[in-house]
This record gives sequence, C-alpha cells and structure tokens, in this order.
Amino acid sequence: MIREIEGRKTISGIVTVPGDKSISHRAVMLGSIASGKSTFTGLSEAQDVCSSVDAVRALGVPVQKKGGKLVIEGRGIHGFERLAKNAPLRIDCGNSGTTARLLMGLLCGAGISARLTGDSSLSRRPMDRVVAPLREIGAQISADNGHLPVQIGRSRLVPFEYRVPVASAQVKSAFILAALFVQGRSVITEFSDTRDHTERMLVLMNGDIRKRSFIQEKRIEVYGRRELAALDVLIPGDLSSSVFFLALALVLPASEIVVEHVLLNTTRAHVLEVLERMGGKIEVRIDSDLPEPMGTVRAKSSRLHGTTIDGLEIPLVIDEIPAIAAAACFARGETVVRGASELRVKESDRIRGIVDMTRAFGGKVVEYEDGFLITGNKKLSATRVQTSCDHRIAMAASVIAANIRGRSQIEDAECVNVSFPGYFDALETHFSR
Ligand code: S3P
Repeated sequence: MIREIEGRKTISGIVTVPGDKSISHRAVMLGSIASGKSTFTGLSEAQDVCSSVDAVRALGVPVQKKGGKLVIEGRGIHGFERLAKNAPLRIDCGNSGTTARLLMGLLCGAGISARLTGDSSLSRRPMDRVVAPLREIGAQISADNGHLPVQIGRSRLVPFEYRVPVASAQVKSAFILAALFVQGRSVITEFSDTRDHTERMLVLMNGDIRKRSFIQEKRIEVYGRRELAALDVLIPGDLSSSVFFLALALVLPASEIVVEHVLLNTTRAHVLEVLERMGGKIEVRIDSDLPEPMGTVRAKSSRLHGTTIDGLEIPLVIDEIPAIAAAACFARGETVVRGASELRVKESDRIRGIVDMTRAFGGKVVEYEDGFLITGNKKLSATRVQTSCDHRIAMAASVIAANIRGRSQIEDAECVNVSFPGYFDALETHFSR
C-alpha cells in the first residue's frame, strides 16, 4: 500500500503510542512461565507482539484479550516444561527477531522441541548469535546456515556462564530465559548497556536474579528452577514509536507534541539526550517508576544542529537511528553515526535504507560500512520512497515528507503495523497546516 504525505505541515496535540514492544514481548513470554494468572494493561497490539502471543498459544498457554487487557494463564516453570511434549511444534515468528531469539532461549531451557520459521526478512537475519552459543552450553539447536528455520530438540541444560560478545538485549535475554529452567546459578555477562526489561520484569516477579556492575562489564546471575510470581502491570508507551512524533515536532515550524505514559527507562530514553544535544527543545517528566520508569515528554519546534553518535551510545539508540537521521536532514551541519553495523541486520539493512531514503529526497549523505554522515538543511523535494517493508524506515520517511513542499509517496506503508498499527492515521489527526 502506498501512503501519500502532503508536506509543509505543522503538528500539535497529545499523543498516546502503543505499549512498548520490547516489554510486551517479555510480558507474553514471562507471563507464560509465571505461576498463575498475569494481567497486562496496554500491551502492544503490533504484529511483532502478536507473533509472540501466537507462539505461546501454540505451546498451549491460554491467552485471552479482555477489554484492553491481556490475561495469560501462566503455567509455572515446572508446568511450562511439560507443555507441547507430544507433537513437535512449528512456530512462525513472522517478522519478529525478538520473538525468534527469545523463544530459542525459552524453549532450549524448558526442553521443548520446535521448529521456528519466519518471513523473508526474518529469514535473512542472523540467528547464529543465539544458536551457536546455546549449542555450546549443551542445547540441541541448529540453524540453516545461521538462519531460520531453526530446529530445536529436547535439551537439558546445566548451569552455564556466557559472555555476550555482541551488544544485544535479544541475545542476553535468550540466555536469561534459558537460565530460568536450570537448577543452580548461571551467569550472563554483557560489555555494553542494552535494554534491561527482562531483568526488571524478573525482579518484579520475585525471580532470583542479581546484577553486579563492574567498570567494563555487567554480570547477571540467575538462580533457576524457582517459580515466578504472576504480574498485574501497566505497560508504558513505546518511546521508539513516539520518537517519530517527537522528531516531527522538532523539525516542523510552530509545532508542539506531548507524549504521555511513555517509557523512560535509561537504556531506552537516551534518544532524548541525543535530540537535546542536537538543540531539540525537549522536556521530560517522570510520573511513575513501576513497572518501569515512565512519564511525559514534550517536544517543540527547534533549530537543530548535527551531532556525532558512536561507541557505547549506539546500543542505547539502535532503534531510533532512522528517526534521528530524519531529524538530521533538517539540522545545521553534519550528523555522523558510526559503529552501528548492527543496523545492517535489522528488519532491513537500515544503513542502506537511510542512505537511499535521504538520497531519494535529494539530501546529502555518505554511506559507511558501519554508519553514515548526513549534511542537513539541503534543499529536499517530495519523492517516492522505497521502504524495504521496514517499519522504522517508513516512519522516518514520513518525518521528512511532512516538512517539505509537495506530496511524497511511501511504499509498503502497511509495514508500520509491525510496531505501530494506525501510525499514519494518528499522524493525520495531529497534522495541521
Ligand atoms: C530488542 C533489542 C534490540 C532492538 C529490537 C528489540 C529487544 O535488538 O533492536 O528492536 O526487545 O530485546 P538487539 O538486542 O538484537 O540489538
């Protein structure tokens, strides 16, 4: 589907965004292994999260939607292990890397055999970062040349130590989930900060998980085979989705947007610091701390300038780089992103996607193997943008399109459903001219 965006807009109003996608995946998986009934309010209804819901249903976990809440009848650690023992399962993870990678850890830990598949984009993404180390700690798991489909046999794991070599919350979380089924202490070590929703949710569930921070590394100790308490929580709004609205408010004239009930966990909110560093007028108020820090963010029209993002910052803004790139097109000077080669293995090659999108609008951009450089404030013109069916590229393109003269077309616009169903309609309700 092609979506047209007429440019020269202003934007205003109060925005509510879908529940955080990363937290929603964890809610579904951890809710399934909790003892008893968990209730999640505000769970994301995005396609990716539906993939996780369908997966746990296929395993035999009852999940129901009741008036905006998702109710999961958790099976408990011991009960979960007894699920799906008869028929080997086939689970379609759709477009969702988080579903696929977290499930690998969960299923290997629980000793459940299954075959995981995904759509064409997910089938191109690297799975060896989870499959190979799971095999090293004794799991029966194999991939097709490092990709889906992944075949999981019945494993029985013993306590393990794993040092996560890539900055990836998905890999870290897969091993934490596996460790929950292992008698004794397992240790997972990471070398850069990545989103910590799995650890936080386990603490709320009274899980025996301890975090130790050292200068160079963080060590997470998990004591497994302990039952986990069920949860009744409100899931904060997804900051990664709201950042497109915030970027629009910053770049469009006479604009101001307020996003309410949005996640402000520091492993996710770093994008706000980056945008402020670019000259963005942003105000943040934390309203609550449980289940995660959340609050209100206000952004208004600003004169932006370029910045450099690299090193340890990258994992903290990895999903927001397309939105930052869109803002960079209207910033004075150069915006440089380096050390971000992970972007090449997201839902699409996002470095290539950002470069192609910027060029399609007539912007000035240099591509690096691990990033890009955008020179902002060039004369841009309306165009037709290919998105490679990547939700974050489609939304980034809408930010640029809204600020330039003329009518742009965004191809495969329905891909936004992966994280933000109804994004374009929400946008239209906040636009004015
Ligand atoms: C996610 C972690 C990140 C992120 C993805 C969601 C998660 O991936 O890009 O959108 O929910 O754990 P990596 O951990 O692979 O970097």
